[in-house]
Parts: sequence; C-alpha cells; structure tokens
Amino acid sequence: METTPLLDMQAITKIYDNGVVANDNASFSLRKGEIHAIAGENGAGKTTLMKVLYGLEKVDEGRVMLHGNEVNITSPHKAIEHGIGMVHQHFMLVDSLSVAENVMLGAEVTKRGFIDKSHGIQKTEAIAKTYGLYINPLAKTQTLSVGLKQRLEIIKVLARDVSIVILDEPTAVLTPQETVELFNQLKRLRNEGHSIVIITHKLKEIKTICDRVTVMRHGKTIGTYDVATITEAEISKRMIGAEVRVERVERSIQGGKPILEITNLTRHHPGEPSLHDVNLSIRPGEIIGVAGVEGNGQRTLIDILTGYASSYEGRVLINGVDIRGRSIKAVRELAVSHIPEDRMIKGSNPFGTIGENLVSTTINKPAFNRAKGWLINGRKIRQYTQRLLKSYRIKADNTDVPVRVLSGGNIQKVVCARELDSQPSLLIADQPSRGIDVGSMEFIHRQIETLASNGSAVLLVSADLREIFRLADTIYVIYNGAFVGAFNNDGSVREDTLGEYMLGIKRQAFAKEVARRDAGNAAL
Ligand SMILES: Nc1ncnc2c1ncn2[C@@H]1O[C@H](COP(=O)(O)OP(=O)(O)OP(=O)(O)O)[C@@H](O)[C@H]1O
Ligand SMILES: [Mg+2]
Repeated sequence: METTPLLDMQAITKIYDNGVVANDNASFSLRKGEIHAIAGENGAGKTTLMKVLYGLEKVDEGRVMLHGNEVNITSPHKAIEHGIGMVHQHFMLVDSLSVAENVMLGAEVTKRGFIDKSHGIQKTEAIAKTYGLYINPLAKTQTLSVGLKQRLEIIKVLARDVSIVILDEPTAVLTPQETVELFNQLKRLRNEGHSIVIITHKLKEIKTICDRVTVMRHGKTIGTYDVATITEAEISKRMIGAEVRVERVERSIQGGKPILEITNLTRHHPGEPSLHDVNLSIRPGEIIGVAGVEGNGQRTLIDILTGYASSYEGRVLINGVDIRGRSIKAVRELAVSHIPEDRMIKGSNPFGTIGENLVSTTINKPAFNRAKGWLINGRKIRQYTQRLLKSYRIKADNTDVPVRVLSGGNIQKVVCARELDSQPSLLIADQPSRGIDVGSMEFIHRQIETLASNGSAVLLVSADLREIFRLADTIYVIYNGAFVGAFNNDGSVREDTLGEYMLGIKRQAFAKEVARRDAGNAAL
C-alpha cells in the first residue's frame, strides 16, 4: 500500500470576492488509480475545490501536494503541466468547430505557421482506440448529442496527457445508457492508471463505480469513506445532516375538464426527433410522467407545448384554448409554467441578477406595479425575492448578484422557484431536479406535489426514473417519437420493465385515443 497519496489538498480555504466562504479548511486526498467521488449539497463547495486544483481559483489558505511535493497551480495551463485535467459542469466547446478542432483548441500544433489539422484527427483517433471513446473527428460539434459532447470534453482532456481527470457532474445530462457507457470508459481509464475525481449528487453512481467518497457540507469536508463500507443512506445523512425520505405521497386526482388536451400530435422536422400521433390529457391535480431515453421526441413535445415549435399536425388545447400560432409569451399567458431542461439557455439570464431572474416572468403583475402599471414597486419585488431565496434555500448572499456566479444547482433552484411559485394551471417540468442535491430535490418534489394537490396539471419529463416513480400518477414511455406504454404508478411497475419500453424492446397496443382511468385500468 502506498503511503503518500498522489494528491493531497490540505486545509484549503477559498473566499470569493463577495465574501462567500466556498471552501472552509477543506482537505482532499487522491490515490493513484482510484475513482473518487465528491458529494455534497448544492453550494457545498465541490466545484470550487476542484477549480482550485485546476488553477481556476486562487486559494486564500492551504496547500496542494502532488507526489509529496508542494505545487503552486496558478492556471489551468499549469494544472495540465502537472497532469491534471478537468471536464466542466457546463460544456466549454466551440459549437462551430469540428470535433478534432475542439480537441486541439488552445493546444494546436503548427506546421510552418499553419495549424496542423491532421494532428488533431490523429490524436482523436488514438484516444478513441486506447480508451474506447469513439467519435468522428470530422463531425461538427453542434451536431453531436449531449452524450457525445461529453465524450468530446473527456477526449479533449486526455489529449493533454493528464493522469488526473476531474469530472464535474458528468452524468447530469446523460441518458442511463450513456451513463453506463461513460462508467465503462472511466473504469478503463482507471485500469490504465489514471486517477479520477467525479463530482456527483447521485448516490447510486457513487455506489456503482467509485472507490471512495469525500462528503462536503457548507464548504467543509466532512470525511472520506470507502464506498464498500458506507450505505447510500449514510452518505446522504452526512451530506445534509439528516435522513431524506423518498416516498410517494398519495394524492387524489380531481375531476373536471382536462387542463391539457393533446390530440394526434405529429411533427417531422429535419434535424430533430419526430413526434408521431401523440395523445394525452391531463386533468386538474394530475401528474403525468413521461419516461424515455433522451432524444426520443421529449424535446419536440415540450417545444410544441411551450410555443417554441409552431409547425405541427394535430391539436393542443390548454384550458380549452387552442395554442396554435401562439408565441412563447402568449402560451405562458395561459398560466403555463415551464422548467426547461437547459437552465442556462432557456431557463435564466445568467447576466441578470437573482432578483431580476426571479421576477422576469411576473414583473407585469399588478402586485409589482404602482400607478396603473407605470411604476415598478421595488420594495414588493425585494420582499418577494427574499421570500423565494429563503424558501427554496437558494445559497446566495443577496438577490443583487448575477445568476451566473451561483453554483449549478442553485441556478436550477432559481428557475424552479420562479416557475413553481407563479401558481400555474399547467406546469411543464423538464428534468426539474437535474443537478440538484437530494435535500433540494425533495423540496422541489414536494412543491410539485403541492401544486397538483391545489389543482394544477403537471407534465413531468424526466430521464431519472426515480423522479418519475416518486411523482407521477401515470407513467407514459416515449420511444422514437411515440408513446409505447402507459402504466399506473401504483407500485406494480418496475424500473426494468420501463427500461424495456424505453429501449423499444416492448410496446403496448395503443388505441388512438388512450382511454385511461375512464375506461378502466385494464386498458393499460
Ligand atoms: N464566482 C463566484 N463568485 C462568488 N461566489 C461564488 C462563485 N462561484 C461559486 N460561488 C459560491 O460559492 C459557493 C460554493 O459554490 P460551488 O459552485 O463550489 O458549489 P457546488 O458544491 O459545486 O454546488 P452545485 O452542486 O450546485 O454545483 C456557493 O455558495 C456559490 O454561490
Ligand atoms: Mg458544482
């Protein structure tokens, strides 16, 4: 057994300019050839600790030891020289470049003053071979799926010949299949002698592929544990200081006219997943979960429902109003809330303050205006944003900081707070708890349940089956643009059954109009 760890971060303290103590006397050590998880609530300081290691943030106190010697890593360039590479929480690729160009970006090899493109291609192919990370070097980055973009980020890091690879929530955007693939690749990297740090909220992943886990809370490192000897419940207890309950709460669905009615919805658009003949209705108080592997038409469905995509066949009624031809804003005015999958692009304005983001969709409401809407009531807005900050446990000093300085999960909380608090008639929630820690996830789930109990209709699209099981009354499985299965979420459906439908192995015979409870559950 080696006694000196490969890497040892000792008593790291990092205070941001705004006074936030993101790392508070934190310690972290990494062995050669291990996969080491860092877990902790949103804002616990995980990303910051790794940014310190990667030379993106300067520490206020503490030191970093590599092979037993103190090193001073002042930039990513230095980190790479020391063999440390990082794949970020938000992709940092240039969409207009090819795969090979992205791989070499910032490390281009020149030949007589020109960038040697063949070098990038060769490098990409060599890495693909060594680690099983296959990708077309000539493909344009913007055409890649999320999973491939992720792979490209990893290849880019490996192309710098690093021995320590840091991944910040790498599976947050991946499908279950892509996750399995990524894990196989990470194991292969480990077997080749790499050491891997993976920041994740998913306890199951820690159990599946990690050797050790370091838990962080409020900037401090609580401890490092062998994964083999700690349970998921014990990890989460250390993360938030209390056990989390994950149970479905019984709710009764109210009668009445459906809030959302979709009939024969079909859309074929070049370059995006199609939708074939989708039928669905959601009544007040009902939560419908749509499960599926990413890229099977979920995005298209949501784009139509929220007014982003306007050409389609079939009909969508929201509270009896046909939304055809309505703009995004005009759809929202039908009391529709939308938690988008991509919180950075559709969900928030990263440069706006937290306060501005929280009221951006409600600013015109009478409560926030004076003098017949001519004056904005600043005090009301401040009170309102303070309340949301508190109840959603958004970790920020005040509402005047720009959203982009928040941690990934806290940005998601800002979006959820805004969308859930507006008391919508219809909530469209696309991966609402992606990248959110277990404690906040539970809070957001409870908010969604409360909305439904108060009579809203909820369409929940999620790649996380546990989220679907937790919330949905009925689960629809989408595959290749069509609903291929419908199940009552009464505890009788199993994850692997849904998996078979998600992968297109099984399919139910569907009547055009899916008769759910009305026609008796035998139809399901
Ligand atoms: N550039 C910055 N300027 C000021 N404060 C910041 C900055 N980046 C992060 N913070 C704050 O530091 C704290 C730790 O953030 P960090 O991103 O390290 O958390 P995290 O554990 O990675 O969270 P998440 O799981 O949500 O990604 C948070 O309170 C965050 O708001
Ligand atoms: Mg983070």
